[in-house]
Amino acid sequence: MSITPLKPFFSYFGSKYRIAPHYDAPRCSEIVEPFAGGAGYSCRYHDHQISLYDTNPAIYEIWNFLIHEADEGYIRSIPDTVNEVDKDLDNFPLAVKYLVGFWLAKGSATPRKTIGEGWNKKWTAMGYKWFWGSYVKERIIKQLPYIKHWTISNADYSTAENRDATWFIDPPYEGSCGQSYKEKNLDYAKLSEWCRSRKGQVIVCENDEARWMDFIPLVNAATITGQMKDGKRSRKGHSLECVWTNLPKTEDTMGRPKGSKNRVKEGVELITPEVSTPAPDAPIDILLPIKLRLEEVEKDRKLLYKIHSLLQEYLF
Ligand SMILES: C[S@@+](CC[C@H](N)C(=O)[O-])C[C@H]1O[C@@H](n2cnc3c(N)ncnc32)[C@H](O)[C@@H]1O
Repeated sequence: MSITPLKPFFSYFGSKYRIAPHYDAPRCSEIVEPFAGGAGYSCRYHDHQISLYDTNPAIYEIWNFLIHEADEGYIRSIPDTVNEVDKDLDNFPLAVKYLVGFWLAKGSATPRKTIGEGWNKKWTAMGYKWFWGSYVKERIIKQLPYIKHWTISNADYSTAENRDATWFIDPPYEGSCGQSYKEKNLDYAKLSEWCRSRKGQVIVCENDEARWMDFIPLVNAATITGQMKDGKRSRKGHSLECVWTNLPKTEDTMGRPKGSKNRVKEGVELITPEVSTPAPDAPIDILLPIKLRLEEVEKDRKLLYKIHSLLQEYLF
């Protein structure tokens, strides 16, 4: 029986939500995410027993709050408009500050303190649903009942007891992009051994720079680029996502044959199913495959509006 996937509860750097359908579906009744972050994979299979671990206190606080404390009234009591987290959320616990802080940015590894004066404020004012606001609150409220059976531990991955489960293992990547997280310097040789020793189904995520397991390419995903002080990009905007798994791959989890396109709607096709959430004014190379389409139709305003609303719906 198929379920409706939950949308992400917050936007997080390295989230696997968008590309989760490219990995094998869970074959066990429990999913363990020992490097939980935003738990993008588990959101797609939320009716399983979900066990999350993360050493980042902010990640722990958010999940602990959502699973054990948050309810409709609580979420409604959080202001719709937050410009400065510490000032506007003065009376709220850290968990709420972290949750809202992640919603003040897109794909950030740390929660923001202010909305700033950049594109996110501009686009929020224009009614976009990508940042904190009443729309996000309603989404969280609607989804809360589906995660009340989840568990979260503020603990190192290695503390997770070995058991028959689907292990979705998505550590900070070995190369430069793994450096964005609070916790760095993982011992990848040790992690490799640990991954191989798991019981059940094991799915390990990395990119093509990694050598600590025999990873094979899965999908080319767009990433959000960062701007360095000298104006150069800190990340390249694309990442070849790779995978190691202990079981042979089946058809993809959305029931489509491997390599099929995402979906077609009213003649508009999103030709990058793996595209991650790009900032609205992100460098155009992130949107390249979409841009090619836009070039074909740029004079057709009606079609442009359709693409626009499709992107709104698809990206968040
Ligand atoms: C790539 S992110 C996971 C992203 C997640 N799959 C998602 O969909 O959002 C890696 C996470 O591992 C956490 N982490 C880093 N070192 C850890 C450790 N030793 N044990 C547990 N979690 C760790 C980081 O705090 C970060 O949240």
